[in-house]
Amino acid sequence: MSPRHERPVVLVTGAGRRVGAVIARTLHAAGYDLALHYRRSAADAELLAASLERQRSGSTFTVAGELADTDALPDMVARVLSRYGRLDALVNNASAFYPTPVGTATLAQWNELFASNAQAPFFLAQAATPALREAGGAIVNLVDIYAERPLANHPLYCMAKAALEAMTRSLALDLGPDVRVNGVAPGAVMWPSEGKPYDDQQAMLARTPLKRAGSPEDVAGAVLWLLRDAPFVTGQIIRVDGGRTLSV
Ligand SMILES: NC(=O)c1ccc[n+]([C@@H]2O[C@H](COP(=O)([O-])OP(=O)(O)OC[C@H]3O[C@@H](n4cnc5c(N)ncnc54)[C@H](OP(=O)(O)O)[C@@H]3O)[C@@H](O)[C@H]2O)c1
Repeated sequence: MSPRHERPVVLVTGAGRRVGAVIARTLHAAGYDLALHYRRSAADAELLAASLERQRSGSTFTVAGELADTDALPDMVARVLSRYGRLDALVNNASAFYPTPVGTATLAQWNELFASNAQAPFFLAQAATPALREAGGAIVNLVDIYAERPLANHPLYCMAKAALEAMTRSLALDLGPDVRVNGVAPGAVMWPSEGKPYDDQQAMLARTPLKRAGSPEDVAGAVLWLLRDAPFVTGQIIRVDGGRTLSV
């Protein structure tokens, strides 16, 4: 392990683009140094890392990896520790999301959806636990309001996110008092970049008390709050959904 780094360090998975990139920028602006994980979005991740490095030298590096490769996850944590000598926070953001209507779902889809949404978050958390304990750190899992109220034709995704919610509560119980573990459950904050899984996005927003989609910044703000400003909060899932789960 290198000498202990002076600023707190966070590993964010799936941080090359979209919500993960906004979480990374937000945490960096708040003084966290970053390990930016990506899988395919190498160009986006390297651009983001370069821009954050320009703002604060020695503050960011990228770590590539397929999260379904469970055996490689301890090494990912080891690379962060070898670079910074500490790990204060883990944000499990990476996720696969697509429909799997009953009658069409395959074991390969099950494995893919559970790998990023439940399996890797657990095994990464397990690998990171000694360092997180030492740092008095925290984990935030990106869940989804669909874990609680399922999205039609997405049973495997909803089940995987429900497993992540259960993991959030289990690890909060098991890792306290050293490590806090919480979740953020976004409503619609960024429509998927491929396909159109929602039948009627406008109708969905009309049923939302705040009458709009949220932003990735709304989600990132909740992640930052849970990591930095909520020392007596653990085992909780914070909905960032404009109140959408209040209506049927
Ligand atoms: N967007 C929303 O409105 C919304 C709503 C509810 C919940 N959420 C949750 O919020 C988080 C971020 O949402 P998002 O829409 O920004 O996510 P996203 O774009 O669907 O996925 C984020 C990243 O996950 C990575 N990823 C997926 N499978 C992977 C695997 N097997 N191994 C390694 N990396 C993998 C991909 O990285 P590469 O591109 O590098 O391959 C991808 O860019 C997710 O957990 C999502 O479920 C989002």
